[in-house]
Amino acid sequence: MNLILLGPPGAGKGTQAQAICSRYNIPQISTGDMLRSATAAGSVLGQKVKAIMDAGELVSDAVILELVMERLGEPDCDGGFLFDGFPRTIPQAEALTSNGIVLDHVVEIDVSDEEVIRRISGRRVHEASGRVYHVVFNPPQVAGKDDETGDPLLHRADDTEETVRERLKVYHDQTRPLVEYYSDSTVRYTKVRGTGPVEDITKDVLDVLKD
Ligand code: AP5
Ligand code: MG
Repeated sequence: MNLILLGPPGAGKGTQAQAICSRYNIPQISTGDMLRSATAAGSVLGQKVKAIMDAGELVSDAVILELVMERLGEPDCDGGFLFDGFPRTIPQAEALTSNGIVLDHVVEIDVSDEEVIRRISGRRVHEASGRVYHVVFNPPQVAGKDDETGDPLLHRADDTEETVRERLKVYHDQTRPLVEYYSDSTVRYTKVRGTGPVEDITKDVLDVLKD
């Protein structure tokens, strides 16, 4: 199963990816998580992209495509994968096709800008695993700690209201055109409502993938 989860920042892509990936036993390929790992490790790539990410802008297609193509070469992708936050531009989507990567399903998680802004200040993340929480809507068992490891949870540097507004603008300008791009393609495309209890959305997504 080769999937794309599409949606604005804060739509719940990372949250839903966890359940889908464990159901289908496929890896979650989150370009945002990969870039944050590079930043945390202080690698040359990390240093190059940190300012771009903190400003809510997009990292160049060339950098992203190199990361993704290398990741797809790893053996755990042989049985399928889930892209979370990729592709984010038309050239990124076209590069998948030109590299012979066939997709089974694109699922759009539909959430309004107002809901995104409401969610983002309360998000907490476990950087090593990509697990996502919210202090009110999806709290960890122990405040401030990851459920599985007990590690402290972090607040992302780009999760300020100002940066989120910029990320939403970038989404509408550069990523939203993918809705039309994939709706007009032969790839199966489904839009699911992204508001309501997390488990209800998971159920809706798993139902559309079953058909
Ligand atoms: P990335 O990490 O991909 O960020 P994003 O797309 O902005 O998406 P988010 O991770 O913010 O949101 P999400 O949809 O995963 O929501 P989540 O599940 O966390 O990218 C970061 C940056 O990296 C980009 O800005 C860019 O600079 C760069 N980048 C990455 N990929 C790139 C690419 N392909 N090309 C170029 N640049 C790239 O949920 C959000 C919150 O809501 C959480 O607190 C969660 O607990 C809560 N929540 C989830 N579901 C619900 C619900 N149903 N009800 C209430 N709260 C909920
Ligand atoms: Mg995410």
